[in-house]
Amino acid sequence: MAIAKGFAREGATVILTARDQARLERETTAIAAAGGKAWCHAMDVVDEDSVKAAVAAMLDRFMRVDILINNAGVAYQDYFVDYSLEHICQEFDVNCLGMMRVTHALLPAMIRNRSGVIMNISSLLGLAPFPTCASYSATKAAVVAFTQALRGEVSACGIHVGVFLPGHTRTEMGDRLRMVGSPKPVAVEIVAGAILDAVAGRKKLATIPGPAANLGILMIRHFPAAAEQMMTDIARKSMPPKN
Ligand SMILES: NC(=O)c1ccc[n+]([C@@H]2O[C@H](COP(=O)([O-])OP(=O)(O)OC[C@H]3O[C@@H](n4cnc5c(N)ncnc54)[C@H](OP(=O)(O)O)[C@@H]3O)[C@@H](O)[C@H]2O)c1
Repeated sequence: MAIAKGFAREGATVILTARDQARLERETTAIAAAGGKAWCHAMDVVDEDSVKAAVAAMLDRFMRVDILINNAGVAYQDYFVDYSLEHICQEFDVNCLGMMRVTHALLPAMIRNRSGVIMNISSLLGLAPFPTCASYSATKAAVVAFTQALRGEVSACGIHVGVFLPGHTRTEMGDRLRMVGSPKPVAVEIVAGAILDAVAGRKKLATIPGPAANLGILMIRHFPAAAEQMMTDIARKSMPPKN
């Protein structure tokens, strides 16, 4: 919700979507009480009919959507051999297919308008896969690949597609992830501010400000073996290793 609040403060009319209608309504009211413009519609990104209904309702009401933030995500942490297949399927359904369902439903309107920004929320784990989050890391790598390929398809239509890679963030999901010895989780407001900047700057790939994340990306690119070892060491400290 911090992202929606940030855009509302900048004067955008924000459309909040998620499954929990009561929470959406609370957040919409809070944005309006702070002087912002907000509207909400329930949407379950794993359900094609729900996505189509939500997108139809928002286009019916506002005629256009200028910025799409694909943020819905789920994450589980365990050794892959112990991961349930249900959790693996859920991660791919929400993090990858969900992002694609929403994008697929909204893209025709953006193409008609010949403008728009799509910012897909991946993770630093999409570039530096994390043992004990193998399936989640794979979904986030897929988000990076999807972003790059789609950008090549739609940039000629005036649509920018970028990817944002948060590091460990203090949210319900972030609080559940064990990453002992990694940089401390950052406040959600810092991540939200960086996402706003990435949208405004039409960034192709962006992360949170500060030396830790940027050094991390440099390390991943130039010293991949050291990055892999670092992630393995953090995972071993976070969960008892499998023999
Ligand atoms: N927290 C971190 O450390 C971290 C780090 C890197 C990247 N990220 C990424 O950042 C994004 C946001 O994560 P978060 O930390 O804010 O997680 P979170 O606290 O668990 O929130 C997840 C959000 O996704 C929504 N969601 C989940 N399943 C959905 C579905 N089927 N349909 C529609 N909405 C759904 C949830 O709303 P409902 O439950 O109401 O549907 C909720 O708003 C995710 O893509 C995550 O992978 C997080």
